[in-house]
Amino acid sequence: MLKVKNVHAKYGKLPVLRGVDLEIGEGQAVALVGRNGVGKSTTLRAIMGLMPKSDGTVIFNGEDISKVPGHRIPHRGIGYVPQGRGLFPNLTVYENLCIGLPGDPDAEMKDYVYTSFPRLEERSRQAAGTLSGGEQQMLAIARCLVMRPKLLILDEPTEGIMPSLVAQIRSEIKSINEKGVSILLVEQNIKMALRICSRLAIMEKGVVVHEGLSEEIRNQPELLKRYLGLTL
Ligand SMILES: Nc1ncnc2c1ncn2[C@@H]1O[C@H](COP(=O)(O)OP(=O)(O)O)[C@@H](O)[C@H]1O
Ligand SMILES: [Mg+2]
Repeated sequence: MLKVKNVHAKYGKLPVLRGVDLEIGEGQAVALVGRNGVGKSTTLRAIMGLMPKSDGTVIFNGEDISKVPGHRIPHRGIGYVPQGRGLFPNLTVYENLCIGLPGDPDAEMKDYVYTSFPRLEERSRQAAGTLSGGEQQMLAIARCLVMRPKLLILDEPTEGIMPSLVAQIRSEIKSINEKGVSILLVEQNIKMALRICSRLAIMEKGVVVHEGLSEEIRNQPELLKRYLGLTL
């Protein structure tokens, strides 16, 4: 459903993406991992039309979206939770949920969001900036869901979240995927990435250097050590 082909991008003259290739099948969950600064967030921004591409294409459901402006991409069916979440801290929880929608979330979606995240219902009239880190992350995810995406892209959703809430966010992402939404997850926590995603793509210096089944990569400690400096 998503095909990223040979994407290049620069900050000024500095090349950051040097030919990224990445594929996500219908209903799949894929993790994009790699050390700090290798270009993971930039790859997501390039997919979302928030970063100019000097070369390459992004195909979503058979359509070339490489030139679609960033503010139109969510309407094509891709939800994006940026690193740092991108909420409007002074707007209420409810107002944040309505951003991007022509009106209010429909009743079915409201039920779904408030059943999945009861805390958001309790706090719907409260300013988003007053929520805890974990609650803000859930709001950021819920805000994408009300647009009914076919693909949800998450950039480090557990960064700065209390360990006790990490499991809840993980199971929520899993259940979103089980409902048929494809997932592209950037995650430093490799164990979490392996538990959510059936495939893993490893990035180094602006390219994907390895791609494969999570199960197989889990059993290749030399790969994890070489590219991530990790021992599981
Ligand atoms: N706004 C920016 N201006 C200039 N350089 C940037 C900017 N954002 C990121 N970079 C650089 O681009 C590289 C890739 O960054 P990023 O995609 O954020 O990496 P990752 O998400 O993998 O940690 C890094 O070297 C980073 O310093
Ligand atoms: Mg990043």
